[in-house]
Amino acid sequence: MPAPLRIGLAGLGTVGASVVRLLDRQAAALTARTARRIEVSAVNARDPNKDRGVDLARAKWFGDAVALARSPDIDIFVELIGGADGPALEAVEAALSAGKSCVTANKALLAKHGLRLARLAEENGVALSFEASVAGGVPIVKTLREGLAGNSIERVYGILNGTCNYILSRMEREGLSFDACLKEAQRLGYAEADPTFDIGGFDTAHKLAILTSLAFGVQIDAEAVDVEGIQSIRLADLEAADELGYRVKLLGVARRTPDGIEQRVAPTMAPKSSAIAQVMGVTNAVTIDADAVHELTLVGPGAGGEATASAVVADIADIARGVRSKPFGLPTSELAPLEPAPMQLHLGGYYVRLCAYDRPGAAAAIAARFAERDISLESIVQRRRPGAEGGPPGTAPVVLITYATHEKTLREALEAAVADGFLAEKPQFIRIERE
Ligand code: NDP
Ligand code: HSE
Repeated sequence: MPAPLRIGLAGLGTVGASVVRLLDRQAAALTARTARRIEVSAVNARDPNKDRGVDLARAKWFGDAVALARSPDIDIFVELIGGADGPALEAVEAALSAGKSCVTANKALLAKHGLRLARLAEENGVALSFEASVAGGVPIVKTLREGLAGNSIERVYGILNGTCNYILSRMEREGLSFDACLKEAQRLGYAEADPTFDIGGFDTAHKLAILTSLAFGVQIDAEAVDVEGIQSIRLADLEAADELGYRVKLLGVARRTPDGIEQRVAPTMAPKSSAIAQVMGVTNAVTIDADAVHELTLVGPGAGGEATASAVVADIADIARGVRSKPFGLPTSELAPLEPAPMQLHLGGYYVRLCAYDRPGAAAAIAARFAERDISLESIVQRRRPGAEGGPPGTAPVVLITYATHEKTLREALEAAVADGFLAEKPQFIRIERE
C-alpha cells in the first residue's frame, strides 16, 4: 500500500471538526475504497485551547494557515476557515503554488477568485475540489461536471441555502417569526458566520455562480447574479401563496436565454405540485434541465457539519485515488466569458401584493394599469378584511397573479399604479418559476 495521504486541515469549526470525526469513523472503509490510508497530520484554527470534541492528539498544530499550507508535512490542504479573502485565500494560493491539491467548502472564495485559483491549480497539475461548496451533502458538482458530460444544459435551479429554506419552512408551517427561525438555524450550525450572507441571498448567489460555470462552461461571474434576499417576505406572502397554490422558496436560477445567461437569486413562487415546493427545512434541491436527461432533481441536506463533511471527504477520497478533474469541467482557457442576460428582459409570471387604500374602484384602477400594457391576469383577489395583515388602517391587500410578461413591463405597470395614488406601500412582487 502507498504511504498515507497526509491532510493539513485549516478550520476546525462546524465543518472542520465534523470532517475529523467522519474520517475517523470511516477510516477502514476509506482505506479500502482508495487503497490508501488517510490521516489528518496537521491542523490550524484560531484558538489552540478550544475543546472541539475531536481527537487531535496525533495532529501537529500550526498557528498560521499559510505556514500549514506550505508545510512539507502535508500532501493535501483542506480549507474550512471561510471568507472570500484573508487567510482562506492566502492559504489556498500558497498550497496550490506549492503543488498541493486543495479541498474547500468555501463558496465565497470560489465566487470571487475561482477562475484564478483554477488556473493556479492547472499550472501546478493539482486538484482544486469544492463539492461541499454547493448544496452541502448533495453531490451536485460531480453530477454537473462528470455525470452530465453528455448533455447540453438549458437551466439549473434550486434551493441552495439551507438557512433560508429552514426559515421559510418554519414561518410557513408554524407561523414563527423570522428572527426566531434565524436564531435556531444559527444554533444548528447552518448559517454563515455573518448570516446576512444567507438571508440577503449572497450565499445562494455564490453557489449559483459556481453551478453556472459548471453547467454552461463559462467563467464564473458572481457579480452578474441579480440578487434579492428573503428579508422582505412577510407571513402575508406565505399565506397568500398557500391559498393560490404556491410556496415561496429562495431560488437560485441560471438559464440560457436568447439574450445571454440569466442568473438570479430571489424569493420565488413555486407551484405546490412541483418537486422543489416539497423541499422543506434545511434540505436543498437542485433541478437540471438538459437535452438528454430531460429533468434531473437532486435533493438532500444542504448545510450542517455532518452533511458538509460528507462532501469534503468525498473530494479527499478522489484525491487519494489520484483523480485530478478540471475544477470547472474544462481547461480554464476554454471557459468562455459569461454574457449576462438583462433582468428587464426576464419573461415569466408574477405574484404581486399591493397594499391598496380600501376605496371603491381601487382594484379596478390597478387592473386597468395592467390591462393597458397587455399583462393578462390569472387572478386578482382583494384579500380578507381591510387593515388586516399588518397594513395601515383603511387599506386592504390586493393580490394578483399574472401570466407571462416581461419584467420591464411589469415594473412600468407598478410604477403607474403607485402614481395613481391608490397604494399605501411599495408593491411587493415575486417571480413565479414553473417546472
Ligand atoms: P465555523 O465558523 O464553524 O468555523 C470556522 C473555523 O475557522 C473555526 O475553527 C475558526 O477557528 C477558524 N478560523 C477563523 N478565522 C481563522 C483564521 N484567521 N485563521 C485560522 N483559522 C480561522 O464555520 P463553518 O465550519 O460553518 O464553515 C467553514 C466553511 O465551510 C465556510 O467557508 C462555510 O461557508 C463553508 N460551509 C459551511 C457549511 C455549514 O453548514 N456550516 C456548509 C457548507 C459550506 P476557531 O474555532 O479557533 O475560532
Ligand atoms: N449557510 C449555508 C446554508 C451553509 O445555510 O446553506 C451551506 O452552504
